[in-house]
Amino acid sequence: MSEPSVRIAELRGSLADHGYRYYVLDAPIIDDAGYDRLFAELQALEAEHPELVTADSPTQRVGGAPLPEFAQVRHRVPMLSLNNGFDAADIEGFDRRVREGLGIDEVAYIAELKFDGLAISLRYEQGRFVEGATRGDGFTGEDVTANLRTVQAIPLRLRGDDVPPVLEVRGEVLLFRRDFERMNDAQREAGDKTFVNPRNAAAGSLRQLDPRMTAKRPLRFFAYGVAEVEGATVPPRHSMLLDWLADLGLPVNAGRRVVRGAAGLLAYYAEVQSNRAALPFDIDGVVYKVDDLAQQRTLGFVARAPRFAIAHKFPAEEATTTVAGIEVQVGRTGAMTPVARLAPVFVGGVTVTNATLHNEDELRRKDIRVGDTVVVRRAGDVIPEVVAVILERRPADAREFVMPLRCPVCESPVERLEGEAVARCTGGFFCGAQRKQALLHFASRRALDIEGLGEKLVDQLVDADRVRNAADLYRLDAATLAGLDRMGEKSAQNVVVAIDRSRDTTLERFVYALGIRNVGEATARDLARHFGSLDALMAANEAALLEVPDVGPIVARSIRLFFDDPHNREIISGLRAGGVHWPEGPPRETPRGGTLTGKVFVLTGTLDGMSRDDAKALVEAHGGKVSGSVSKKTHFVVAGADAGSKLVKATELGIPVIGLDELRRMVEAA
Ligand code: IVH
Repeated sequence: MSEPSVRIAELRGSLADHGYRYYVLDAPIIDDAGYDRLFAELQALEAEHPELVTADSPTQRVGGAPLPEFAQVRHRVPMLSLNNGFDAADIEGFDRRVREGLGIDEVAYIAELKFDGLAISLRYEQGRFVEGATRGDGFTGEDVTANLRTVQAIPLRLRGDDVPPVLEVRGEVLLFRRDFERMNDAQREAGDKTFVNPRNAAAGSLRQLDPRMTAKRPLRFFAYGVAEVEGATVPPRHSMLLDWLADLGLPVNAGRRVVRGAAGLLAYYAEVQSNRAALPFDIDGVVYKVDDLAQQRTLGFVARAPRFAIAHKFPAEEATTTVAGIEVQVGRTGAMTPVARLAPVFVGGVTVTNATLHNEDELRRKDIRVGDTVVVRRAGDVIPEVVAVILERRPADAREFVMPLRCPVCESPVERLEGEAVARCTGGFFCGAQRKQALLHFASRRALDIEGLGEKLVDQLVDADRVRNAADLYRLDAATLAGLDRMGEKSAQNVVVAIDRSRDTTLERFVYALGIRNVGEATARDLARHFGSLDALMAANEAALLEVPDVGPIVARSIRLFFDDPHNREIISGLRAGGVHWPEGPPRETPRGGTLTGKVFVLTGTLDGMSRDDAKALVEAHGGKVSGSVSKKTHFVVAGADAGSKLVKATELGIPVIGLDELRRMVEAA
């Protein structure tokens, strides 16, 4: 019998090989049972010799301890987006611009599938997977390393003897349709919520705070590019770069092809479109990139997208169905939205049963009536919409919809103020619908983040009069919850734990959770910073509120009205009495200088909503310097639309590129 360490190394090597054959070459040579046997042997050996367990052992993909939240990761090279084209003319225009930009007659492109998943970045150092992040706003994403470690298709170590010391790979995480269906079957069996489509399921799985949950989801990964390479010569063409990534053990989809000219691109598109249904995963189009990397550099970037690439999107799916009814939904602030109830129709990857009609004017403009046959459209994650009515099929008795004069939920009068598109229920706190929406908002992720307190539960709690407002939540016990429909003891207990956890919060989350009209997350943060404590905020008059950055008269008035309402004050006391708390501090002045001391910035492109001079003044007011050109001494490049060579230079030198929002955040964060 060989040394355990030798056998362990052997097993790890052969498991990695089988993984590579399965995920990258798509040519396995053993079946699942054979793989499982090797895996079990390794697990047993490691259990006997815990000192030999390493982080990159395939047994470590089970997922570590849950995280309280994701840390932020700043992308060393920003994760940009692609411009979109929708028809042949768009693509011919793209090809013409590329030819003109390069001064050549014909261009070689690489055409790839456009995976309908989530963009991620994977960093390998000395061949080991060290960090994985979501795209976020393109400049800063979330650290999902622990979750990505559980994804079998992502190698924990790169293959081969010649791995680059640093490699940052970009690609897409997704679920195969078959795996998605199995996953939903399992969810259904366990009485858990099912996901609407593979993309949402992949997003939900990747953003689990408990990596052990992610480990149970069969996520896949395809690499489509590289952000940073150190210590290796990068092949001269994108097509060769992708082959190189595959050699290093990263899955690259086989659907890629090098083609020439616009005709080659359009032929590829037609072929992919006709084979789309046979693919094991969803795509929402194809992507074309200039193949030659030197040519890519010559073309460079416009704003946040490369000039050398374009996404050719499939048309949004449309289907026809009939309008079974038009109902009115009442939102948190009383806004009444007409909604079409539709005969169920499968479109854009989901079964659609209703579509928002936005507001009364929109509904009239499209002249949608009950009984009508309509065309509905759904693209990506977008809310389904009614595109048009097929008038020839309108039944003779179809009548125009009239907005009710009383709220369908609480029967309070409806008002529509001059100049506003929206009609509102005036019932406020007395309206059950508004109460439900207020509770859902209170519990939402960016507010007090009470997991498990979803629509169905809130409906029941409010309908049974167990909960009238947010403060009542803190008086609920597991027994009451377990008495409700579709609530097991375990789930009831989980909700109680989630409610308890939410007691410990921050002032900004609390202020946001209150659902004050016109106070979103950013304003809530500004208010919390400025006043430091809830009492100070509640005591502030309109003049004092106007001193907060970005608070204007309308917002100041909404805040005052909210805190003047005795019901609201009562709820706030109830919440405090129920144990909801947060750290309070003295009010903070917006810092007037110093936070950027020693930092050199370069501004480039058209900065949205701020002149170059103002941006410069902002940097300087906080102690930073603005320089005209990018060099190794530059700390940050602030890029806006149409940023050109400076952005490319920054990317080459690995200097962080940020947007104006980020700059604002940097000076605010002090
Ligand atoms: S290349 C500079 N290639 O599409 C941007 N992107 O708007 C480089 N996507 O969220 C992106 N498949 O995650 C590229 N084969 C592919 C892709 C792809 C899907 C996604 C990407 C990004 C979006 C681009």
